[in-house]
Amino acid sequence: YRTAAVIPAAGRGVRLGPGAPKALRALNGTPMLIHAVRAMAASRHVSLVVVVAPPDGAPEVRNLLAEHALPERTDFVVVPGGETRQESVKRGLDALPDSISAVLVHDAARPLVPVDTVDSVVDAVREGAPAVVPALPLADTVKEVEPGAPGAPEPVLSTPVRARLRAVQTPQGFDRDTLVRAHEQVAVSGEGATDDAGMVEQLGAPVVVVPGHEEAFKVTRPLDLVLAEAVLARRRA
Ligand code: C5P
Repeated sequence: YRTAAVIPAAGRGVRLGPGAPKALRALNGTPMLIHAVRAMAASRHVSLVVVVAPPDGAPEVRNLLAEHALPERTDFVVVPGGETRQESVKRGLDALPDSISAVLVHDAARPLVPVDTVDSVVDAVREGAPAVVPALPLADTVKEVEPGAPGAPEPVLSTPVRARLRAVQTPQGFDRDTLVRAHEQVAVSGEGATDDAGMVEQLGAPVVVVPGHEEAFKVTRPLDLVLAEAVLARRRA
């Protein structure tokens, strides 16, 4: 039962401010992507990591992987990404060898996910779940609104019961055939799917949630960089 991790890292990261593609920004001197690759390779189950690079950045990413010490038991492949996260994940799936039967999809933007979280996702897939998502309960109450112009008041449509909501993280784990089928059969409009498990739900296959971890947060805004560096400093202390 071989498991691969696909890491979509082709996003520009505009919400983080101007500069290099988000995955290539440094956290404590090491690119976020390298932290994310190490987090996947830290799991003994993961034998292959497929990095989906910015469309014109594959050679640069190959160099980066060569420069940093990575576990010998893990293979690495770099492919160029697409316009949307969904397209980038699809290109990663297309690069998988036949021997792979389970796939993790992990955002480069979640560089600090602990190995125990990765392993619990893999374990649930191995035990037979076609799709597994790590997630946490919400601190904030969430409202559904009718989106208006930026900054303008927006009418509230509903307030889902907070106790039933979960904020989902990555790595999301899948039976390979299920995820490939979702990417082939599910049409997603607009900017594409932001969540692979959501595409599996649309296939009608069951998706389960396992406990996520605070340190699996997504680095999206400038303040998240501060938090990520604080987490790394605490780990080293
Ligand atoms: O933009 P967001 O934070 O939702 O991106 C999530 C992940 O998807 C990031 O790791 C980003 O690099 C990746 N992505 C991608 N290809 C795109 C857009 C986003 O690989 N076209």
